[in-house]
Amino acid sequence: MKILVTGGLGFIGSHTVVELQNEGFEVVVIDNLSNSSENVLEGIQAITGKPPIFEKMDLRNKQKVQDFFSKHDDVEGVIHFAASKAVGESVENPLLYYENNLGVLVYILQELVKKDKANFIFSSSCTVYGQADKMPITEDAPVKPAESPYGNTKQVGEEIIKDTCKVNPNLSAIALRYFNPIGAHPSVEIGELPIGVPQNLVPFITQTGVGLREQLSVFGDDYPTEDGTCIRDYIHVVDVAKAHVVALQRLLNGRNDMNYEVFNLGTGKGSSVLEVIHSFENVSDKKLNYKIVDRRAGDVIQAYADTEKANSVLGWKAQSTLDEAMKSAWDWEQKIRR
Ligand code: UD1
Repeated sequence: MKILVTGGLGFIGSHTVVELQNEGFEVVVIDNLSNSSENVLEGIQAITGKPPIFEKMDLRNKQKVQDFFSKHDDVEGVIHFAASKAVGESVENPLLYYENNLGVLVYILQELVKKDKANFIFSSSCTVYGQADKMPITEDAPVKPAESPYGNTKQVGEEIIKDTCKVNPNLSAIALRYFNPIGAHPSVEIGELPIGVPQNLVPFITQTGVGLREQLSVFGDDYPTEDGTCIRDYIHVVDVAKAHVVALQRLLNGRNDMNYEVFNLGTGKGSSVLEVIHSFENVSDKKLNYKIVDRRAGDVIQAYADTEKANSVLGWKAQSTLDEAMKSAWDWEQKIRR
């Protein structure tokens, strides 16, 4: 069964390609390599025994999207990762984000609604909840005004899919709201490859640990949390990848309750920035050089998932602990800097 994975050489995409191939799916990857590398294909091959079919393509070219779906008319499911994800960059260049994250989404959906039956999985984010009023966060928590164009593309992306599903019963879609994916494949053949200075906490920590960065700045220790630092739900990327396969199978087997569904992908456990640092120190046996600095604009105090719906309806549960995820991130960082 042929599955298209857009952005399939990126961080979460590549781990999902591995899980799909392990389950016997035939995978076609489209990636423009804007934030990834063709070498990832070798990593996927090392783990699964074969590379996916790869088409280097920028999906902002509508004609190419149409041509792809004409050529591959046997695609039975699409997992759509291809998008830009840097919050700061989205503030500087909103049109890039609206074109890349929403224009492309529209082009793909326009092709899918032409099919007799189409299945679509969308990468959404817990950022749609903003600072939720209640912890843990359930899927029916209100969507709060976005803090950035990036966040807005996830909210509007969900709306676009929902509206499209309403009038296209042949289209079934699931939006997966990721909390904070971290880590790398335990084989250390694939992992996160941030270009430039990492904006996210865990790659910044591992790069500091390996000596590539001088010091981690902890953004604020005066939040109303136990140790004063922000709380997030860090989830192993392999757990996130497996959820995509489970969600896809739900659609392929027609087990979905509605043709548009939303699930949180988190562990249900919140960890503070200092707890994440301690996890790194624990698995690496190193002291991390860090200092407390001012708060970062736009950060919410805390966000962790209520996982009940994903557990009971989707039938998926995160397996790895923070230490296990951190250990894999650290193993990966050491491998790529060798
Ligand atoms: C961020 C985005 C979120 C996006 C996600 C995608 C913001 C405000 N949020 O999530 O919208 O979906 O990335 O990748 O940008 N921290 C430090 N020092 C650092 C880096 C981070 O203390 O050098 C802290 C942050 O303040 C935060 C936590 O670590 O409390 C996690 O930060 P990060 O990894 O950037 O993820 P989010 O902010 O949760």
